[in-house]
Amino acid sequence: MKKKILFVCLGNICRSPAAEGVFLDLLIKRGLADQFVVDSAGTGGWHVGRPADRRMQAAANRRGIQLPSRARQIRLDDLSDFDLIVTMDDANLLDVQNLAHETGSSATASIKPILSFAKRFNYTEVPDPYYGGESGFEHVLDLLEDSCSALLDELTVEG
Ligand code: 4NP
Repeated sequence: MKKKILFVCLGNICRSPAAEGVFLDLLIKRGLADQFVVDSAGTGGWHVGRPADRRMQAAANRRGIQLPSRARQIRLDDLSDFDLIVTMDDANLLDVQNLAHETGSSATASIKPILSFAKRFNYTEVPDPYYGGESGFEHVLDLLEDSCSALLDELTVEG
């Protein structure tokens, strides 16, 4: 059975598409792409259908990472469809927990903050880079590369 992982932020145009791209890149590098289904979504719906923010794509491309996803909003059935939902900040975590509550007993996904997996960084939230400068996008990628690598280590040890 493939493991199904959904990365979630607010707009699904900066942080969660970057997390999806970083995780996919690691899967390909480690030869594990056929063992996972990876997707991303936003708790908000303002950017549905849009590609990842150009600044986020440029920063990822500089590290050799592609961000192919198009924005979509999280749905109640994601809570039963995915094994693990990985959130970027405290607001996303609370929003997804509320959706799980709304979904009821069929909400089987584990819900975890991405930085709970981080090894090198000691933060609780991936800051929203949308209104900031270029360094914010680099910082997001630093946090995501650390966390996604540790997440994948954990998932592959679990078997
Ligand atoms: P994201 O960043 O949650 O990392 O995709 C944002 C992008 C856009 C907006 C908020 C956050 N916005 O309000 O439009």
